Amino acid sequence: MAKYDRAAELKAFDETKAGVKGLVDAGIAEIPRIFHHPWSDDHYTKNSSSVSGETTVPISIPVIDLEGLDKDDVRRKKIVEKIGKASESSGFFQIINHGIPESVLEEMKEGVRRFFDQETEVKKELYTRDYSNPVYYNSNFDLYTGISTNWRDSFLCHMAPNPPKPEDLPIVCRDILLDYSKQVVKVGTLLMELFSEALGLNPNHLYDIDCAEGLTVLGHYYPPCPQPELTMGVTEHADVDFFTVLLQDEVGGLQILNDNQWIDISPQSGALVVNVGDLMQLITNDRFKSAVHRVVSSHEGPRVSIASFFCTGMIPTSKLYGPIKELLSENNPPIYQEVTTSDCCGQLQLKGLGGKNSVLDYFKLDKTEK
Ligand code: OGA
Ligand code: NI
Repeated sequence: MAKYDRAAELKAFDETKAGVKGLVDAGIAEIPRIFHHPWSDDHYTKNSSSVSGETTVPISIPVIDLEGLDKDDVRRKKIVEKIGKASESSGFFQIINHGIPESVLEEMKEGVRRFFDQETEVKKELYTRDYSNPVYYNSNFDLYTGISTNWRDSFLCHMAPNPPKPEDLPIVCRDILLDYSKQVVKVGTLLMELFSEALGLNPNHLYDIDCAEGLTVLGHYYPPCPQPELTMGVTEHADVDFFTVLLQDEVGGLQILNDNQWIDISPQSGALVVNVGDLMQLITNDRFKSAVHRVVSSHEGPRVSIASFFCTGMIPTSKLYGPIKELLSENNPPIYQEVTTSDCCGQLQLKGLGGKNSVLDYFKLDKTEK
């Protein structure tokens, strides 16, 4: 049998610029070895622990109805309570009646499908690993550093603070990307008010410290997989941002890790999935939880999802984020050092996570003092 040269195979795959979809279009029946996931499911159920290490809080991934939020103070208070409770336990919840019309959600998913359905020759123009580009497409952003290669291609655009020129966005999804981004910023701004209130802070607190300054929109495309048990759509990870607003189609596969069990986040028509990210966990001094999640592969597909990351990400800013002073007390001293958002994202992009589930482990105060 020929020797397996992972590095060479990764490079050959990358150079096709055709992504995972290119393999599926070519009709492969067995997935190449680079996609074989290094762990069996036992690894998760026996050895994984949640980010916080706490497993006593019962899981709650509620679907929260935002209808009537601004009209009724009692209702608003109830909604804020639910968001607070979910953010403190699983770190995940879904929202409905969030203000983005169903037609916009549908068209956004269609836009991602249209992008990936283009000829490889057309898509190739945008294929790069130069992450300073405002708009690009590739397969596995961490292809050369990640522990495993995922059955997924992704399209990415940085929509804020420096939006791309509209003409730089692919024509097949340009209008909807601009429209969806504008609307997701509104939802994000509202969520920040609700998160602030849930923390007992002034409603503008998170907005005022610029948690919505950056927005990166990713369109993920998960082709149907001939051997789904051997690979993953997205390996387990926590999001390195303040929070993420995810639009998923009806295929399913998104799971969160809770108490060493993987729990499905079932697709719900018209809903958006919201999850707390690492930076939010850091500034809330572990009160809000950034949960480990993954996407399993399936014979079904393609699955598409659109992840909107609220974070300035790789854009270097000097702004420092540490645990919010108002949340600290003698009994709740700061757990984390102050970081810039690019410190956080840089860790992920440049080093990989080195077997850790979370970049937060790098910023714990007791670790840095030792
Ligand atoms: C992500 C992510 C989940 C999905 O982009 O970080 O977890 O359903 N995506 O695509
Ligand atoms: Ni994620």
